[in-house]
Amino acid sequence: MHATITLLPGDGIGPEVVAEGAKVLQAVARRSGHTFDVREALMGGCAIDQVGSSLPDETVALCRSSDAILLGAVGGPKWDNPRATDRPERGLLGLRKALGLFANIRPVAVHPSVIAASPLRADLLQGVDLLVVRELTGGIYFGAKTRETVDGEERASDLCIYTAGEIERIVRVACELARGRRGKVTSVDKANVLETSRLWRSVTSRVVAEEYPDIQLEHVLVDAAAMHLLRRPADFDVLVMENMFGDILSDEASMLAGSMGLLPSASLGSAPDDMETKQKPAPGKIGLYEPIHGSAPDIAGRGIANPLATILSVALLLRYSLGLDEEARAVEAAVNTVLERRQVTPDLAAAGEQACTTAEVGDAVVAALAEIGDPVQA
Ligand code: IPM
Ligand code: MG
Repeated sequence: MHATITLLPGDGIGPEVVAEGAKVLQAVARRSGHTFDVREALMGGCAIDQVGSSLPDETVALCRSSDAILLGAVGGPKWDNPRATDRPERGLLGLRKALGLFANIRPVAVHPSVIAASPLRADLLQGVDLLVVRELTGGIYFGAKTRETVDGEERASDLCIYTAGEIERIVRVACELARGRRGKVTSVDKANVLETSRLWRSVTSRVVAEEYPDIQLEHVLVDAAAMHLLRRPADFDVLVMENMFGDILSDEASMLAGSMGLLPSASLGSAPDDMETKQKPAPGKIGLYEPIHGSAPDIAGRGIANPLATILSVALLLRYSLGLDEEARAVEAAVNTVLERRQVTPDLAAAGEQACTTAEVGDAVVAALAEIGDPVQA
């Protein structure tokens, strides 16, 4: 297979973790005979600094002509001026929208070897294996914004808006994914207060009743969901929710895994089942893959960022955009090996334990991948 992959290293620790992801991509290419044509583009704060826009047109064009995109992180205090007209985050939101990537998938699994890194008790974490499916191109993130002064007082507003169609398609993605798992979908909303949530709840119930009668559906209010994620995390299978609830709850859920540095994500423009053809994806099936963590400016440039979330994002890229499930599993197995061997960055190291650098962890994954040997040709 030949695939074209665009790297968007971005800001802060982004370039450091993307370098390790790229290392793993090349290792996968070497072991399975695929060729990955990898190129880099500017997006985020670095793009503002170098070309004056957080999302240059050339970057959008390059991304559109790719099979997949691997992103590091964007943002940092340097670009935080509230009066700035452009911001690094605008580039990311603009790219998600431009490519129609409405489905954001954030798997949360607990690796037994790093269970001690979680602030939660180990007994609560047994069997945690959940998927947050976040709507990514609608809701309050994309509604009209205002900022004005009325009668001498400043005020601002953000409109939260959803269409039935936007809800239907994300619910279908959640149900398709649940069918390949434990068959349970938890829809999260705030239907006791918000009109968008009441629409969300009724559309979700209808889609599941009409198209997915085999799926076990429950509705949970977002405040209760935040609590149950800590109280009974192992009960969840697939959680589906609107954009901002998904942003918040996926950061909370990352603490189950012990570190934000372990959570990958995939942003897709269609249900992943369309992509399980094991063939070169059709045009328009571009996926964007990124760790869920931010640019962590406080640790940038120190070589201590955890690259595993980015490397696990590479596994999702191989699975969902390139149809290379065997290679995806191999990368995930290599990450497990590295965690078992405790070749970990400081975020996962125990007190007194010698921690590895970002590059050492990347090299350890490449070495573990080599030990797994060649893929069995199907
Ligand atoms: C995320 C991030 C982004 C978001 C920011 C960087 C705009 O927090 O991917 O979760 O809010 O979607
Ligand atoms: Mg977030």
